[in-house]
Amino acid sequence: MNKQATGEHVNSARLSLERAMQLHVDGHWECAEQHYLQVLLEDYRSTDVLPLLASVVAKRGDIDLAVHYWDRLLSIQPFHLNALAAKGGLLYKTGRLTEALSCFEIATGLAPDDALIRNNLAVALADSGRKDEAIIEFGHVLRLQPDNVNAYHQMRRLSSAIVPFWHIPMMNDTRRNDCFERAIRRALATRGSSAQILDIGTGSGLLSMMAAREGATNIVSCETVPTIARVAQEIVAENGYGEQIKVIGKSSTALSVGRDIPAKADIMISEILSSDLLAEDVLSTFEDARRRLIAEDAIVIPKAASAMGCLVASETLAAYSHVRMASGFNVARFNSLAPLRLPIHGTMTEWSRLSNDFEIASLDLTSAAHEPELRAVSIPVITSGTAVGVVQWMQVDLIDDIVFTNHPDGYHDGGWLQVLHVLPKPMPVEAGSVVDFLLGHDRSTLIVLPAGFATS
Ligand SMILES: C[S@@+](CC[C@H](N)C(=O)[O-])C[C@H]1O[C@@H](n2cnc3c(N)ncnc32)[C@H](O)[C@@H]1O
Repeated sequence: MNKQATGEHVNSARLSLERAMQLHVDGHWECAEQHYLQVLLEDYRSTDVLPLLASVVAKRGDIDLAVHYWDRLLSIQPFHLNALAAKGGLLYKTGRLTEALSCFEIATGLAPDDALIRNNLAVALADSGRKDEAIIEFGHVLRLQPDNVNAYHQMRRLSSAIVPFWHIPMMNDTRRNDCFERAIRRALATRGSSAQILDIGTGSGLLSMMAAREGATNIVSCETVPTIARVAQEIVAENGYGEQIKVIGKSSTALSVGRDIPAKADIMISEILSSDLLAEDVLSTFEDARRRLIAEDAIVIPKAASAMGCLVASETLAAYSHVRMASGFNVARFNSLAPLRLPIHGTMTEWSRLSNDFEIASLDLTSAAHEPELRAVSIPVITSGTAVGVVQWMQVDLIDDIVFTNHPDGYHDGGWLQVLHVLPKPMPVEAGSVVDFLLGHDRSTLIVLPAGFATS
């Protein structure tokens, strides 16, 4: 006779289940587990028993076995929401992020309005380094739970890890903005409002909107960081320029003519100059754009940029860049790990100049290629003191005679900071003497080194 069919069997299985559940409630995990297994053997209400078994096994700490029971349930009901959510939680706990993510993703698809599952997905995305997607997910959590402080905080934490601190002061930098706007106006006056414009590095969309305000009708703007691109798109639409400006959430190096931009650009605008000129990969980006994305005779804004500097003394900066004695110990050897350069803020950091201004490197941004360069230069010392480094700033040639500079004598509150290029060790210098330097760049960083650095 089929045992399953008998009332006696069902009765015994039900009693085992009741016993198991009581043991479970009382915290007797191992005993509860044995009784649940007995119920499973009896093939009684398996889809109800497996979640209980998985939960009791997880409670006694055997995560792999708990996952196994959730998998058994999922093999019967592949879209069991609790199984997916709980399995994802266990996998996350044991650091199996990719598998956890896939559980949370399926679960979110099944229950898009479940804030807890969406929150777990967001956390797993953030932990996997997928910050942009995590921000979007936390946004969904906030839509469902507007008072969720944690989701709000996580969104802000992730955004500020993605968007550098200088972005807002840069946008508030009226001098910089006005120089770019004058240059854009000049270019449009030459090429006409139907010129194809390519703006590399949308940011907030500011430069593209300047072009649109000036009447340009064909603007393609690209932005590597998806979160920034998404917000730029909203800003552009809010300002009424959605028709003229197409924002593409991609790096310029991933754009192609014909697909992303209808034709090679007549005017290229790009402000991807870091305070030390090169760190935002400006050379590779401009070379790639010249090769693939812009017309032979395109106007490039900016057309050139130079890094300028002067030798400086400063007790404040010396304390940031060099060390000798600490609490009576000689720790000077740590100078071999000292920073190569430090951002400095003119109004907050005192320093005095020991030389006149000199050029560190000069870049023609319209060139097809840029080789690394290094020149030996003798810098005359005008004031005696102990040099700690070279304070550096930029001169940006936008178009024709329109030039922007963040020379420290007149620029303290903009988006670009000046940068201290730290000497390997402090160097006493005498007025009237010269200091020999090696100056140049390796394409992604400036090189500022006293000659003979290796033997000094
Ligand atoms: C210094 S901000 C300038 C933003 C805006 N153009 C402005 O002037 O206010 C540079 C922006 O360019 C983006 N970016 C840098 N290199 C890029 C590239 N090759 N393609 C697309 N975006 C890039 C950065 O993520 C950043 O948001």
